[in-house]
Amino acid sequence: MKAEKNDRDLYLVLVNKQNRIPENWTDKVELVPASNCDGEEFLVEKETLCALDKLKADFLKEGVKIEIDSSYRSIEKQQRIWEWDLENRGEEYTRLYVALAGYSEHHTGLAVDIFVDKNGTRVYRDKDGNNYFRPLIHPRIASYGFILRYPEGKEEITGYAYEPWHLRYVGSPALAAEITEKGLTLEEYLEGKK
Ligand code: DAL
Ligand code: ZN
Repeated sequence: MKAEKNDRDLYLVLVNKQNRIPENWTDKVELVPASNCDGEEFLVEKETLCALDKLKADFLKEGVKIEIDSSYRSIEKQQRIWEWDLENRGEEYTRLYVALAGYSEHHTGLAVDIFVDKNGTRVYRDKDGNNYFRPLIHPRIASYGFILRYPEGKEEITGYAYEPWHLRYVGSPALAAEITEKGLTLEEYLEGKK
């Protein structure tokens, strides 16, 4: 059975180094196809994609072309990413940037890695040249229901390095704004709700 429209708790699922993707998750959410400017194809949770499309359209009006780099990943896909990074980038990098298969937020379909397409070049982070992410994109993502899932300075809590490209949909702009304005990670927000 797919997600009931009022089952908003789905959008607050916590998947991290301690919490595996819940059993039968893909029976609970609707994953829909999406693609990027290079014709790469993805699956994204339906409401998440709707929010992302609005965000992309609004930025495009201002000449900033945001594209999907990664979204839903199967366990097998995450395993392949882990193995590739381990071999090519080493263990330290891999543990800081890549989740073990089964423990990636990308299994939810609620996470989207983005890049900015600048004249055909992929820009992933502030230091790549044009300071898009921190000053331009991050302050506006909450209006569409997204939080920055791995913020700088919260590495001890999230378990991962700062990832300026990884956005997480939490189900509503109001909630995303609350989490962001309080400077919380999803872990801290959910802990505070207990
Ligand atoms: N890059 C994030 C942590 C993942 O692999 O899910
Ligand atoms: Zn990601």
